Amino acid sequence: MNKKPVLYDNHGRIMNYVRLAVTDRCNLRCFYCMPEEGIKYVARQELMSFEEMDRLMYILSNAGIEKVRITGGEPFVRRDMMQFLRKIAEYNLQIHITTNGTLTHQHIPELKSLGIQSVNLSLDSLDKKRFFEITRRDEFDNVMKTLEGLLKYDIKTSINSVVMQGKNEADMLSLVELTKNDPISVRFIEEMPFNGNGSHYETLHWHYRRILDFLKSHYPNLEKLQDPPHSTAYHYKIPGYKGKIGIIAAYSRTFCGTCNRLRITPQGVLKTCLYDTGVFNIKNLMREGATDAQVLTALTDAIGNRAKDGHEAEKSRNFGLPVTESMTTIGG
Ligand code: GTP
Ligand code: 5AD
Ligand code: SF4
Repeated sequence: MNKKPVLYDNHGRIMNYVRLAVTDRCNLRCFYCMPEEGIKYVARQELMSFEEMDRLMYILSNAGIEKVRITGGEPFVRRDMMQFLRKIAEYNLQIHITTNGTLTHQHIPELKSLGIQSVNLSLDSLDKKRFFEITRRDEFDNVMKTLEGLLKYDIKTSINSVVMQGKNEADMLSLVELTKNDPISVRFIEEMPFNGNGSHYETLHWHYRRILDFLKSHYPNLEKLQDPPHSTAYHYKIPGYKGKIGIIAAYSRTFCGTCNRLRITPQGVLKTCLYDTGVFNIKNLMREGATDAQVLTALTDAIGNRAKDGHEAEKSRNFGLPVTESMTTIGG
């Protein structure tokens, strides 16, 4: 049997993971991601088509990519999402999904049968009213239905909760308590400036060390766990609890040293770091008639020229202009 090739970047890091944002559309308006009025969505013909995404996944699955995380926007607002998952489930890829959970519930049995490896659910509050204040939509019950479904079908589940000053500090403890009886991972995330309106805090209020201190003050016996390779999260657990707690230093970027991630935006732009402005547009290259080998060459060239870390990538963007994009155009 032929061994799968391996891709390395210019810093000797293995590149075996792609994050594919299948749409920039979303049915929520989480305030840390998008302004209330929404953003100007990409024209439909500028989004990658089903066939283009499928072709790219096929090329990557044969080139050393082992894991794909489907993100958005909200992946399930895309009408051909399940059809797309069925197609790429045929390739040699581990498939993971990040979703807001509002439209996911009815697909859970099929996600299980397709062998989806894990689902990350964005859920910043267990309080219906605060959920509404944060997401500006009344979808809490649907998200909870998804959470119950994922647990029922035994799909590995993580909850993503962005920690926001004056918004959901009160929810951290109730989210932690979810790990008491269920084997889920609850991850607290540093807020990044990808909110689509260009506003920035002077300083990050909820730095990962502050999140950790807060958790320790309530759970003095919090136990550090070993983190898997390439992990974005520091993992902990409360002795006797079934699940885990994670802290993601997304803004401090402490995990860049082992970064194995490529990103494809909904328009087909390749990003070799969350904080860069994009290297080139793969969809355009494909539309110009590039062969699979040419697409792969362009990709490996880009991988051979990656920034060392997210701080370096941020410095090199637009002559130092700050981040203004919405996370929904990047995929997280
Ligand atoms: P796995 O890598 O499969 O563990 O996924 P994940 O947990 O990193 O992905 P998810 O989509 O759930 O993202 C959780 C948070 O981590 C989001 O806020 C992401 O934006 C952030 N994140 C993911 N990858 C990176 C990265 O490469 N750099 C930074 N700074 N943040 C990231
Ligand atoms: N800062 C940190 N995380 C964010 N996400 C969206 N916007 C931001 C932000 N500004 C997270 C969401 C989702 C994941 C893909 O990215 O919670 O779970
Ligand atoms: Fe939608 Fe996710 Fe952005 Fe919330 S964070 S508005 S769920 S894309």
